[in-house]
Amino acid sequence: MHILVTGGAGFIGSHVVRHLLHAFPNYTITNLDKLTYAGNLANLKDVESMSNYRFVKGDITDAAFLEELFAGNRFDGVIHLAAESHVDRSISSPVEFVMSNVLGTVNLLNAARVAWEGDFEGKRFYHVSTDEVYGTLGREGMFTETTAYDPHSPYSASKASSDHFVRAFHDTYGLPVVISNCSNNYGSFQFPEKLIPLFINNIRHNKPLPVYGKGENVRDWLWVVDHARAIDVIFHKGATGETYNIGGHNEWTNIDLIHLLCRIMDRKLDRQPGTSESLITYVTDRAGHDLRYAIDASKLQRELGWVPSITFEEGLEATVDWYLSNQEWLDEVTSGAYQRYYEEMYAGR
Ligand code: NAD
Ligand code: TYD
Repeated sequence: MHILVTGGAGFIGSHVVRHLLHAFPNYTITNLDKLTYAGNLANLKDVESMSNYRFVKGDITDAAFLEELFAGNRFDGVIHLAAESHVDRSISSPVEFVMSNVLGTVNLLNAARVAWEGDFEGKRFYHVSTDEVYGTLGREGMFTETTAYDPHSPYSASKASSDHFVRAFHDTYGLPVVISNCSNNYGSFQFPEKLIPLFINNIRHNKPLPVYGKGENVRDWLWVVDHARAIDVIFHKGATGETYNIGGHNEWTNIDLIHLLCRIMDRKLDRQPGTSESLITYVTDRAGHDLRYAIDASKLQRELGWVPSITFEEGLEATVDWYLSNQEWLDEVTSGAYQRYYEEMYAGR
């Protein structure tokens, strides 16, 4: 198979690319990425020289570029992860989220539809989405695949819209699509503006840990490698037109998670217990902050046999170890050095 992965230089995408290259050495993987601030080819250094891997720099908002890319390649499948992904950025720049997440997805759907027209046999368009489309839960209950959409942030509204377009292309044109909605991911190569890598980096530099509101919001955390494994299973075995929820059965209030992280960091950095916790600073809450996300992933377990491979405590410990042994990566992405490098490398392209 020749698979087009979009957003493969980002956090989850780089794990998906790595997983597919190792698990399916007979596949060709083309990684299409715009290399925004969140896209970093250093995330794929260990696999970039593999003979079945190709990188293409491009923007999914550019329909003509996509048409040419599909005309020049015979893709059997698309795994679509490219998106603007940070809720706080969506609050300050909502239009960018509409462009990449909505228009970009429609362009990609259209390019696949035109390229595969009349021959959908063996083809698959996999759209990677988020549990945030379902809105927020109270203290009880979980999101299932039939929970009504109720997005609250510009990010989740743009992802919800893209999900609707994916289903519309299935229902209208018969495009063989599959969708998954996953909970919060954590692990290596996550851009340090998201909670866990941001706090690891701030603790390292003795900087304040900004906890939004009272820290009572609940997230359901999943190790990114387990998400990549789930994407593999759903891409290959999921039923066409179906949606699968992916989650870790692993709910934490932000403040409990932050205390656990602080304890691990004190131990790893040989600091007095309580040193990291003293950096906790309560700040104004995020506007429209969803209280609680929790995923019921029983359909995925029942129908396709997927379950998470490690516990959160193991995964968080391994994640801290990774960031502490890859401080150069952290320093480069926080200094913006890698972005300047790519701007020069791809100048005029
Ligand atoms: P990320 O921000 O780390 O990576 C996104 C990638 O997409 C980057 O490499 C970026 O350069 C690329 N990109 C952005 N706009 C583009 C465009 N117009 N054209 C081409 N490439 C573009 O995001 P992530 O956390 O890896 O998330 C990947 C996907 O998974 C997203 O669709 C997101 O909605 C979804 N998701 C994320 C989480 C999570 O916890 N991070 C959870 C569930 C679902
Ligand atoms: P984040 O990693 O941005 O993911 P999402 O908003 O998509 O769930 O945030 C996870 C939780 O942590 C969320 O409830 C917001 C909170 N948070 C903070 O309290 N402080 C921070 O500095 C950040 C980035 C997030």
